[in-house]
Amino acid sequence: MSKRFYITTAIDYVNGQPHLGHAYEKIIADVISRARRSLGQEVFFLTGLDEHGQKVQQAALAEKKNPQEYCDALAVDWQNFAKKLELTNDDFVRTTQPRHKEFVQATLSKLNDAGQFYKASYTGYYSAKEETFLTEKDRLPDGKFDASYGEVVELKEDNYYFKLGAHQQWLIDYIEANPDFISPSYRRNEVLGFLKNNTLEDLCISRPLARLNWGIPLPFDKEFVTYVWFDALVNYTSVAAAHGDEIILSANKNLQPSTSNLQPSLWPADIHVIGKDIVKFHAVYWPIMLKAMGLPLPKQILVHGFWQKDGARISKSTGNVVDPIAIINEWGVDAFRFYVLRELDIGPDGNWTEAGFRSRYQAELGNGLGNLVNRSLSMLKRYRNGIVPAKSNELAADAAKAADETRALFQQSQLQSALQSIWCLVNRANKYVDETAPFKLAKDPAQAQRLDEVLYNLAESCRVLAVLLNPFLPGTSAKIYSQLGLTGSPDKLADATWGGLQPGQSIGEPAPLFPRKDV
Ligand code: ME8
Ligand code: MG
Repeated sequence: MSKRFYITTAIDYVNGQPHLGHAYEKIIADVISRARRSLGQEVFFLTGLDEHGQKVQQAALAEKKNPQEYCDALAVDWQNFAKKLELTNDDFVRTTQPRHKEFVQATLSKLNDAGQFYKASYTGYYSAKEETFLTEKDRLPDGKFDASYGEVVELKEDNYYFKLGAHQQWLIDYIEANPDFISPSYRRNEVLGFLKNNTLEDLCISRPLARLNWGIPLPFDKEFVTYVWFDALVNYTSVAAAHGDEIILSANKNLQPSTSNLQPSLWPADIHVIGKDIVKFHAVYWPIMLKAMGLPLPKQILVHGFWQKDGARISKSTGNVVDPIAIINEWGVDAFRFYVLRELDIGPDGNWTEAGFRSRYQAELGNGLGNLVNRSLSMLKRYRNGIVPAKSNELAADAAKAADETRALFQQSQLQSALQSIWCLVNRANKYVDETAPFKLAKDPAQAQRLDEVLYNLAESCRVLAVLLNPFLPGTSAKIYSQLGLTGSPDKLADATWGGLQPGQSIGEPAPLFPRKDV
């Protein structure tokens, strides 16, 4: 059976409320999912929560709650957040779910049976904030660890280790042979540079119960729980297994093969969307874990940058935060989705400013798209009683160009560029209104046919725009369709072909899409 397009996001630590960075990543994955569905592909979009580990345990302790109760309460907020962003995720994983825990244990047993682990004593440094070990090499020139690691403590303890040495060379070869495996290319170059200039240290995959009990017990030693990163990365496969993925189920004899696999398979993942701070986990440890599990590697690790606010790090302690929920409540979810993807390409870092957000809202959404749709449909209502006139092709080439570019850019996950292509059509159509001046044509009965042509070109451009914009602005796109009097859904890119609007049909009620907000 054919494979589904399988896309995932990082699973977020549940140690507080979601912020702009979390929202951004989930919107990227949602737009790619919707774009692929619009191209006619079957998609499975996974997001969720990373609930184990010291960071979460400490957060629960600080509120005097047991970790499971703490996670259960916050998971409600995070799932509501996914709805608020209008994500079309097909599942929502929580790493405390039995389906996940059982899969992690089956994976550990398989690797342990295969002799991939050994026990040893460790002395070194640990950052609970980033849930990672640090070495002398990680110290800054002044001898300190970077502030992003939070408090770093020295540890001496026994642990289980995963042997990585044998994996270094094939991973380098693989990354070199597959230029799209890590995107953008500068992230790929960083990973290659790291792998070529360092000897990989074995990965510690356990934590002694004495120090941390909030984790998945090691199936072969009850004195230890699983390291949170080993647990978390495995979510991408545990959920696929839960949906009956044959490749994953047949790779591990500890797992029950599915009896009624009617769904097309998922693994390997097509895209893991992640932020730049967790590249090493996804581009080094995860491929090695998969190889040891006997599974093919994901097709792409797509790495986005970090948002700042007003040029400074987003930080709860300094209060320098953007609350996505407040923005959405005030401006609408589509304006939020538009701004983050239009402002920031997938790769570099971005800077949120209130002025920047307002300016794009007013110029591009209000005066650009909103004004085009509102004046096009209002004139059609006023001058032609809302009846679509005969077809005309004057803007067909402009629309075809936008649609062709958008299709190609969707296949490359180039979301910012796709918005730019779509806005070429918005701007062209607005300019066309100014050039043809339909309000003047309407005063001259001899120009009736010319006015028909202009009104058709404008209304049909609005329809094509609704189709192209659907993955980005699903609510707005649906409104444009309904204002055009169309009953179907604008969710198939094939419908962007010029000429879909039928002469003689009545449009609906025009209404502003992005009302002005004057301060
Ligand atoms: O790292 N701008 O969880 P997390 C953009 N649980 N993206 C940001 C950001 C910002 N300011 N801050 C965070 C974890 N992110 C692990 C992941 S995956 C198997 C386990 C991104 O809650 C960050 O890069 O710290 C990551 O991709 C995601 O938000 C979750 O971060
Ligand atoms: Mg983090």
